[in-house]
Parts: sequence; structure tokens; C-alpha cells
Amino acid sequence: MTDNNFIPQNLDYSNLKKGSFTFKTPSNIALVKYWGKEKIQIPKNSSISFTLSACFTLTTLDFEKKLKSDDNFDFEVFFEDKNHDDFKPKIKKFFERIDSYLPFLKDYKFTIKTRNSFPHSSGIASSASGMAALSLCLMQIEKELNPNISDEYFNKKASFLARLGSGSASRSIEGEVVVWGKHPAIDHSSDVLGVKFPYPIHQNFKNYHDTILLVDKGEKQVSSTVGHDLMNNHPFAEQRFKQAYDNLNEMSIILQTGNLKDFISLVESEALTLHAMMMTSNPYFILMKPNTLKIIEKIWAFRKETNSNICFTLDAGANVHVLFPEKEKEQIHGFITNKLIEHCQNKQFICDRIGLGAKMV
Ligand code: DP6
Repeated sequence: MTDNNFIPQNLDYSNLKKGSFTFKTPSNIALVKYWGKEKIQIPKNSSISFTLSACFTLTTLDFEKKLKSDDNFDFEVFFEDKNHDDFKPKIKKFFERIDSYLPFLKDYKFTIKTRNSFPHSSGIASSASGMAALSLCLMQIEKELNPNISDEYFNKKASFLARLGSGSASRSIEGEVVVWGKHPAIDHSSDVLGVKFPYPIHQNFKNYHDTILLVDKGEKQVSSTVGHDLMNNHPFAEQRFKQAYDNLNEMSIILQTGNLKDFISLVESEALTLHAMMMTSNPYFILMKPNTLKIIEKIWAFRKETNSNICFTLDAGANVHVLFPEKEKEQIHGFITNKLIEHCQNKQFICDRIGLGAKMV
């Protein structure tokens, strides 16, 4: 797929005066991490993620044809029913990037109403689910103008657009496992959009759980965008990109064979490598908190004691994603409530699991 495939020809929008679409779009958690990119939003390595279910963004896009077309993007943003002008610069930049792929953007006035299922500033990135939700609403307008587009084209282009808003958003359209970034082990993988993992996934990963422990809900001191930038001129960048390439190969095999022990070591190594990249950037920074480490140590001790298949991964933040198979949920829920939530801010955590992707509502 090249970028030119997504430039629509001859869209006639003279009859579409106004409308409204709503999408519920999940967050995702990367198993092999995206960290480092080229302009514009091309990843330095391929990544793979579980699509989530309980953590989602619900976005309604109202649109109305302008009386007279002009050269401006005209939109309002409401977050949890309140006007949120501080989201506007990011969305304006997004509109600028996608303008040539959705040539109707300047012809309508938009109202974007959005909310997340997870607590505000919980440290859970809402950019993935948020940008994916907005992209889907915009694609639904394109579909209204051109009802013949296939579901495959719809999803691909939604992922393509979402990537231009936030890289990881390209992995939030479909479920249950998505790959973004060209890789020879994954048929049809692409640098410009996420594709559904194209091979059968082993039964061991059915209903896989992700309990998210909210360790620190404060504003991150370094944004992902800055972190990605710091991978340019990073002393370990090339080795890291090579490692991620090899890890994706291995993860593809693990997901098909169901080898949970290999899954655990690869996922935890990826999480710690991501944070090692942060700690060895110039300037260096640390996003983990003392409680992040306490939780990791307890997970390791519990695993040693019980031979459980519990493991952790981390995003660009202090929260810990605790991953485990459906079969072990009772025992691990007990462990989490008895031993881990004392390290969470206000004892907060979210029980999530692998999900099927976005839905129109
Ligand atoms: C650590 O997708 O948030 O979560 O493309 O600049 O918006 P931008 O970055 P973003 O980076 C996500 C980084 C990560 C790893 C991952 O999800 O693969």
C-alpha cells in the first residue's frame, strides 16, 4: 500500500450536508515496542500489540457543511462534555497531515466530543485510542460519500490516518493482535499502517488478561514524542532496532506455538529495554517509580514460588501492565489484590483483556 492509494478520487460531497458518527475505540499494549521514528511517523522498527477492551475512547464527530468553503480547519473539541481548547493544536496538526487524504476536511465544521473509559490523567495514553477513534469517524464520512469502499480499505485507511496522529494509534483499529512496521515475518505488514496478525494465534492467548496497575497518575515529565526523538543519535539505537526486528520474528512464532515461558521473557525484556533506552538517552530520564520496581520484584518472586505464567510490561510511564493467561486468572487476581494494589496510587487498577477492535456505536 502506498500513500497514493489513500487519496480519494472524485468524491462528490455536494449532497452531504451534516451528520454524526460515534466510534468506540480501544487502547492497545505493545509487546514489542515502537520507540524511535522518522519523519513523518515512520517507525524505526516494527512493533506488535494486544488490542485491549476495557480501556477505550468513545468519540462522536458531528459535522455540518460550511455555508462558504474557506481555507481553514473549523472544529471544536469537548472532552467529557467540557470545551477543551488545549487539545486543538494536536488535532489541527493531525488535520494538516491528513488533509490530502480527506479532501473534504475544510468544507465542514466539526464538533468532536470525546471521553475515555479510564480515569483522566491515569497515565494511560489516550492518544492511541483517541486518534484512532477520530480517524474512524472521519473514514465513516468518506464511506458515506463512497459507500462502495470495502471493509478492508476502510480499516487500512483508518489505521493509516490514525498513524499520522500518533504512531501507536495505527494499532488500535482492529484486534486481537496488530503489527505496525514492515517485517518479512509478517505478510502484508507495512510502515504506514497496522495490520491484523495474519496467522492463527494459539489457544493460550485467548482472553489474555492485562490488569493495569496505576502507579503514578501524574503528568509524564517527558512525552513519547520527545522520547522517540532522543533515539536519533542514541548510542544504542542501531542495536535496539536490530533487537526489535529479531524479537518480532520470535514473537510471531511464540503467538502461534503458545510458548508462554518464551512469551514472558521476551515481553519483560522488551519493557525493560524500552526503559533502558530512556535511561541512556541524552538527556537521560527515568519514568519508572519506586513502586514500579516493587511490583516487578513481587511478580518475579511470585512466579518463582508458584511457576505461574504472570509477567509484566510497561508503557512510556510508571504504570505496570500485568499480563496473564485466562486459565490462571483466579490465582493471579488474588495475588494482585493481596500484594500489588498497595503499590498503586489510591489502590487503583483496571482489569482489562485482549479485545476485538473498534466498533461503530
Ligand atoms: C512506549 O505512539 O505515543 O507506548 O507517535 O509520537 O504519538 P507518537 O508516539 P506514541 O508512542 C508509543 C510508545 C510506546 C510503545 C508502543 O506503544 O509501541
